[in-house]
Amino acid sequence: MIPLIYNWFAIAAVAKNGVIGNKNSIPWNIPVDMNWFRSKTAGQILVVGRKTFETIKILNPQSIYLVLTQKKDYNIINKNVTIINSINQIPKSTKTNRQIWICGGKQIYEQTLKSCSFLFLTTIKKAYKGDTYFPKFKHIFKLQTQIFEDDLIVIQKFKNKQLEEIN
Ligand SMILES: NC(=O)c1ccc[n+]([C@@H]2O[C@H](COP(=O)([O-])OP(=O)(O)OC[C@H]3O[C@@H](n4cnc5c(N)ncnc54)[C@H](OP(=O)(O)O)[C@@H]3O)[C@@H](O)[C@H]2O)c1
Repeated sequence: MIPLIYNWFAIAAVAKNGVIGNKNSIPWNIPVDMNWFRSKTAGQILVVGRKTFETIKILNPQSIYLVLTQKKDYNIINKNVTIINSINQIPKSTKTNRQIWICGGKQIYEQTLKSCSFLFLTTIKKAYKGDTYFPKFKHIFKLQTQIFEDDLIVIQKFKNKQLEEIN
């Protein structure tokens, strides 16, 4: 297992019933949450699975996208996109000030959450029909702060329990 990595942050939005996706898309459209996601990840390094990458309509030209795939011939012609074939190729630190944001989907969360120092989780107050669920995370993270709440969502910041032990 990859150990805790200080520069890795996870971000996700999960429905009340644990759903994060349906038919390779996100089954809700909540602008407040989309703006939150964009504000946190703009200009950073975003790590995404190939399936999630293919759902992104507009890439932020300030950001760097690392796309995980096992397909050796997968190619995207864009200077801000790098294809990687293994979790071990996600950088653990960077020479710049960029943070590394783990942005899903499920397969990528499953393999990296334990190593993320913080999880920024939006919970949507409604249940949605879906086929993809967020992995169990409460054994890994402890709630640190509530950042935002309105009628539709709650945004919370969770801290990796391994960090609690160190500090
Ligand atoms: N609500 C949210 O916050 C949120 C965030 C992100 C995504 N989503 C949703 O989640 C769903 C997609 O999740 P998903 O789990 O189906 O797909 P995914 O994690 O986005 O992508 C899976 C793909 O990543 C590649 N991959 C996975 N592990 C790898 C490894 N160790 N090494 C190399 N490549 C690896 C494989 O690509 P190849 O098949 O090309 O080999 C695999 O098929 C969609 O519905 C999406 O909308 C929701």
